Amino acid sequence: MNITYYGHSCFGVEVGGKNLLFDPFISPNELAKKVDVTKIKADYILISHGHEDHMADAASIAKQTNATVIANYEIAVWHNAKQGVKNFHPMNFGGKWKFDFGTVKFVNAIHSSTLPDGTGGGNPGGFVVDSTEGSFYFPGDTALTYDMKLIGEQYKLKFSFMPLGDNFTMGIDDAVKASDFIQCNNIVGMHYDTFGFIKIDHNKAKEKFSKAGKNLHLLEIGETKNI
Ligand code: NI
Ligand code: MN
Repeated sequence: MNITYYGHSCFGVEVGGKNLLFDPFISPNELAKKVDVTKIKADYILISHGHEDHMADAASIAKQTNATVIANYEIAVWHNAKQGVKNFHPMNFGGKWKFDFGTVKFVNAIHSSTLPDGTGGGNPGGFVVDSTEGSFYFPGDTALTYDMKLIGEQYKLKFSFMPLGDNFTMGIDDAVKASDFIQCNNIVGMHYDTFGFIKIDHNKAKEKFSKAGKNLHLLEIGETKNI
């Protein structure tokens, strides 16, 4: 699968001939200034929770591409009712749905989720995508949780995204443990370096994953990698 990094926790993933875009936060991100938001392809936009640093560009990209917003009920409906996004698919915890690219399961995260205008954004979550090309996990913003073991038992993940920045989410040590829980050795880092609170030492992070027998990919913003 081709993965493109747009900074912070925003990734494009090509799967089943479709373009999936996760947690778009690009135009307010100082580190992602070279990304042209108007050129991003998206058939689906998956939003893990209601914080600005995960959905700042979701409505505009959805309108420009006609993409379907996949999120929890509260966030999906808010994009339709308050942002004028036409295509949306609401989900809730433990539920899965078969789309034309594969199946998406909405799974637990431990975090918070208020929308930018103060509306309740429901509870934060993550996504497991299962396709004929393999499965992967996008945890969103979350603490390390024992629930992740269930994902390892239920899926054979080809790769997983994992927040690394600490302070607002799990940090590097917990991310290594989370990767054990989900039984995955191929990890793509996210939610690091964007703000002062979440700056990480790249070499140290890679070293810690490598000591645990895992491969940590830290993509350059704008880079596409086949994983
Ligand atoms: Ni958040
Ligand atoms: Mn965040």
